[in-house]
Amino acid sequence: MNKWFQDEWSLILGSSSGMGLASAKALAERGMNLFGVHFDRRAGLKALEPELEWMRAQGVQVEYFNMNAADADKRAEAVAAIKEKIGGTVLRTTLHSLAFGTLRRFFDDAPENEIEQKQVEMTLDVMANSLIYWVQDLRRAGLIGAGSRIFALTSAGGHTAWPNYGAVSAAKAAIESYIRQITFELGKDGVVANAIQAGVVETPALLKIPGHETLIYEAKRRNPSGRMTTVEDVAKVVSLLSLPEADWIRGGTVFCDGGEDIVG
Ligand SMILES: NC(=O)c1ccc[n+]([C@@H]2O[C@H](COP(=O)([O-])OP(=O)(O)OC[C@H]3O[C@@H](n4cnc5c(N)ncnc54)[C@H](O)[C@@H]3O)[C@@H](O)[C@H]2O)c1
Repeated sequence: MNKWFQDEWSLILGSSSGMGLASAKALAERGMNLFGVHFDRRAGLKALEPELEWMRAQGVQVEYFNMNAADADKRAEAVAAIKEKIGGTVLRTTLHSLAFGTLRRFFDDAPENEIEQKQVEMTLDVMANSLIYWVQDLRRAGLIGAGSRIFALTSAGGHTAWPNYGAVSAAKAAIESYIRQITFELGKDGVVANAIQAGVVETPALLKIPGHETLIYEAKRRNPSGRMTTVEDVAKVVSLLSLPEADWIRGGTVFCDGGEDIVG
């Protein structure tokens, strides 16, 4: 594999599973050193060990932080640790791939099943707002600047209604708007930001959505490329958009879904 990103550094928020982990592996394979943020208990940590070993065997440095990415104090500690390690260098790639949201309906005949304010706020905080605060802290620390790429994962559920997806849908709409605003405010500094809209991908987060069987069935039926999107499809796009040649693709949503979104 061509070492496109030798000696460069990336930060992946949500790096232990799904598209975050696959992107970490794809970047490691291409020579990129990695910081990862994830939130796992014992079983998750055990499953992660061989993945970290595999990445290090690619000859790159890998440092993971097991923490709540939405906790301001923990974020400050992690940013300080990153600065200590690579201060003076900007991160080439920062990927927001956090999945941690409520899947409650807004309305139910039993009020105790309805979504609550704190659940909406938690979902928006982790899955959208945290992008702003991470980018602010990283930029203040000199870790985001000219040449940095920022990516956030979004889904077709950000502009269509799916069962149980109301709060996550709002987070997706918000994060797409944050990507536009980052581009608007930091574009002149050479910071490049894009949302990546993945098709429906079989990951732990998807399997938690009530009715995911229907989403999978529909994705397979509709996708004009004849299969579902995989985590590796998304990881390849993250690598591709991290290349210097992609630096004029800015502020929008790049589709990585085999054409799923164009079919009604
Ligand atoms: N799976 C799909 O079909 C699909 C499609 C389009 C977009 N997306 C989006 O892609 C992103 C990644 O989803 P995935 O399916 O790969 O999920 P996943 O469940 O496989 O991975 C989520 C990652 O986020 C980490 N995480 C969750 N909450 C955290 C927190 N508070 N602090 C730190 N780390 C935390 C987990 O540890 C894990 O590493 C999400 O934004 C999701 O909405 C998913």
